Amino acid sequence: MSEANRNISILCIGAGYVGGPTMAVIASKCPDVKVTVVDINPERIARWNSDHLPIYEPGLDDVVRSARGRNLFFGTDIVAGIQEADIIFVSVNTPTKMFGTGNGMAADLQYWEKTARQIRECARTPKIVVEKSTLPVKTAQAMKRILDAGNHQNRFTVLSNPEFLAEGSAVNDLENPDRVLIGSDATSEGLAARKKLVDIYARWVSRDRILTTNIWSSELSKLVSNAFLAQRISSINAISALCEKTDADISEVSKAVGMDSRLGSKFLNASIGFGGSCFKKDILNLVYLCRYYNLHEVADYWEGVVRINEYQKERFVVNMLGNMFQTLSGKKICLLGFAFKAHTGDTRESPGIFIARRLMEEQAELIVTDPEAIENARQDLAGAQGNIRYTEDPYEAADGSDAIALITEWPQYASLDFERIFRSMVQPAFIFDGRNILDHQRLYEIGFNVFPIGKPALTHFHDEPDMTA
Ligand code: UDX
Ligand code: ADP
Repeated sequence: MSEANRNISILCIGAGYVGGPTMAVIASKCPDVKVTVVDINPERIARWNSDHLPIYEPGLDDVVRSARGRNLFFGTDIVAGIQEADIIFVSVNTPTKMFGTGNGMAADLQYWEKTARQIRECARTPKIVVEKSTLPVKTAQAMKRILDAGNHQNRFTVLSNPEFLAEGSAVNDLENPDRVLIGSDATSEGLAARKKLVDIYARWVSRDRILTTNIWSSELSKLVSNAFLAQRISSINAISALCEKTDADISEVSKAVGMDSRLGSKFLNASIGFGGSCFKKDILNLVYLCRYYNLHEVADYWEGVVRINEYQKERFVVNMLGNMFQTLSGKKICLLGFAFKAHTGDTRESPGIFIARRLMEEQAELIVTDPEAIENARQDLAGAQGNIRYTEDPYEAADGSDAIALITEWPQYASLDFERIFRSMVQPAFIFDGRNILDHQRLYEIGFNVFPIGKPALTHFHDEPDMTA
């Protein structure tokens, strides 16, 4: 470890899903480095300083507790933070722009630009500024231009260090990353700044996993990694539709395909579609970038990944409608899970939001259950018209319902007492397993009509014509 990194002070602007856990792990691994996390949202900061952290992430409580007050601090004084820090991570939100040019596609960089300007105005000493939020390629250049405007020439060195953590496994991903990517320019300041950051990560990550590249490659690699992951899900989901028509079984197909070591078995679970704050946003960002450079064929190709995802969510609802005798009006439907994936309370871009809204359009009554995401689900569906209730208890949620739609693959849902649930439901009882985690044969034997993704349905209606065809 480089001695130069002792007593270094790190600031992270943005205490969200990325900034909070990343800084907590850096602080826990580098006890002599002071790490401060600031945010414009005082409530969020208050929660980071409390026993109820603002995000649910397995293992995070322990990591925060081990370092908070020692060398990890959460606060709202952004100006003081900037002045004190040697290295500033920028981890503010960059949602998809919902207005003007690039509406629904490009990244909305207003929060990011405000931060860049604030750093420029407040800094009194040289700073290394690290892009942590996922940003469009060439943002580092824009950041450098903002930082260097006026009389502040050469006091700022910009690095790109994209985050690859996945929610639900963030602590493990940060502690044992597949790789850490650091992009810099090739000037002597760029290389020196890069070395400083490499030396921090090298405290717990082996150096052969710390990849250094030019700054554009680093920015682009983040978008491309997410696009490739999402593409695998859309590929398997597209094939799940074909399986349902041909009596092939998507789990068998996925296993057979994934055993090819060139392809690998991960990210081949068919589902109701991917959610989360990154995949859609990053692909749309990539699409926008391709269109900007007139690469329309490339843009169309990646846009197809998002289109299949929308199709998969809609297909799930149409399948429910078709199999429940073409009407959901007044029927009670239990949404089993609402988070965009298991082990997180995050619901951003959760397929649950789309499915809930569509079911309400069909005038179904909803009861939503989730062990961690009820608070977020309430906010997501706050403006929706219709009858909707929330409970953390899955048995209460299923009680009196016509159908269960499994949205999130919480492992505890696989071991629920489905005999009890079946007895409490309206008959005929339907279950739509949007994640293929339940024992379908057993559910069928209990008496359910079972509709997995990409597998033959198991129904007790032997004379039923296929109404979804
Ligand atoms: C993702 C990337 O994995 C991570 O590297 C990046 O930093 C941020 O974006 P995250 O969105 O937290 O992480 O979750 P991820 O595990 O990738 O899942 C995304 C979505 O895909 C979830 O809705 C998940 O349920 C779905 N999924 C995943 C599938 O439908 N099938 C699969 O086989 C895998
Ligand atoms: P991510 O998933 O990328 O971490 P989040 O939305 O969870 O995104 O977190 C981003 C955080 O950045 C939010 O807590 C938001 O309040 C904060 N933020 C946005 N703009 C600023 C700013 N100008 N200064 C400080 N914090 C900001």
